[in-house]
Amino acid sequence: MYINLWYVASFSSELKDEPVKVRMLNRDFVLFRDGDGKAHCLSNVCPHRGVSLAQGKCFDDGTLQCPQHGWRFGGDGRCTSIPSQGDDFAMPPGARVDSYPTEERHGLIWTFLGDSPDTAPPIPDMPEIETPGWRTLEYGEVWNANYHWAKFANIDLTHVPIVHGQEFIGSFTPKENISRPDDYSISSHIRTPFEQPKGDWSEIREEQKHIASTLTFHVSGFTFKGHLEIGGEGSGIFATFYEMSTPIDSQTTAMRYLFTRNFMAEPEHDEGYMARNMKNVNEDRALAETQLPKNGPAPPGDRDLLIDPDDTMLKGYWEILGRLRDRGCEIDLAALEELDRGHRYCAIPSPARLTNPTAWTHDTVPLIQSVTNHPGKRKS
Ligand code: FES
Ligand SMILES: [Fe+2]
Repeated sequence: MYINLWYVASFSSELKDEPVKVRMLNRDFVLFRDGDGKAHCLSNVCPHRGVSLAQGKCFDDGTLQCPQHGWRFGGDGRCTSIPSQGDDFAMPPGARVDSYPTEERHGLIWTFLGDSPDTAPPIPDMPEIETPGWRTLEYGEVWNANYHWAKFANIDLTHVPIVHGQEFIGSFTPKENISRPDDYSISSHIRTPFEQPKGDWSEIREEQKHIASTLTFHVSGFTFKGHLEIGGEGSGIFATFYEMSTPIDSQTTAMRYLFTRNFMAEPEHDEGYMARNMKNVNEDRALAETQLPKNGPAPPGDRDLLIDPDDTMLKGYWEILGRLRDRGCEIDLAALEELDRGHRYCAIPSPARLTNPTAWTHDTVPLIQSVTNHPGKRKS
């Protein structure tokens, strides 16, 4: 698991007036809205006695109150008042929790879990979501699968005919053109004849017309975008999905989807559109939840079976993660497990720790500092 990335913590629609506890990267966070409705994300562990802040209350002045002794914390994580103390009380410097940059975009609450947002890959663009004429459905569920397995469920073309029963015409899998738009994403483009859509989609496309589609992995939010010109090349008729995956812990992943389309955009077609997408989600999930080891794979080494072109996208995925590892962003999960048996909570470091590294009640998660041999290692 990696710090210094944007992750999806919630759908916007799920965060109302009450604070919400969210587990990500094996740590606890609390989301809440201030008096202006702006979303904030704090470490959920009260620095006073470790109580869950998410059990507390939000106040109109934008603070969140701990449910035990009533300390109140602003969106920046600082304790603003302690009810048992007078106005002249000198607030201890450690009376604060980590506060993580939080943005609401595309109906999602994105949180930056780390201390260096300036050097981070950006939140992915999702131009369809706000474009008039497109209709978007949101859906979320938790998979009992490591987040790598969850992503690998959709990373290759070869599983499409086998898992989803969708045959490509003319070859088992069409030739992929792989592109790397930047350091944090990788795309596979295909252009292929495809079997005619069935049911109420049967009129969408002329027979034998090619379909162009693109699958992009973007490391922010561990996001896949599938962009399928379902009406045939040049038609401008698209079925598109976004799949964001947030590691809850090593064996559990929060999966969130935006299914969007610019055809049959009336609400009466929602049920059918959701059902088509859910068929794929359920088929992928059923296999991801069987995959071993349960804690997920390590970056591939000599004994791992990667074949081209089937696994070319997967190699690109590991290269992107390798760069994060090189930058010291990977959590040392074995060391963290050991520390969690001890007596001091370890939080994900927040940007305030860079400007003021001392006087924090909680430690930070241990990180893997240097690695010399993995496929994503940058050449120096
Ligand atoms: S435990 Fe939170 S204020 Fe005491
Ligand atoms: Fe799939």
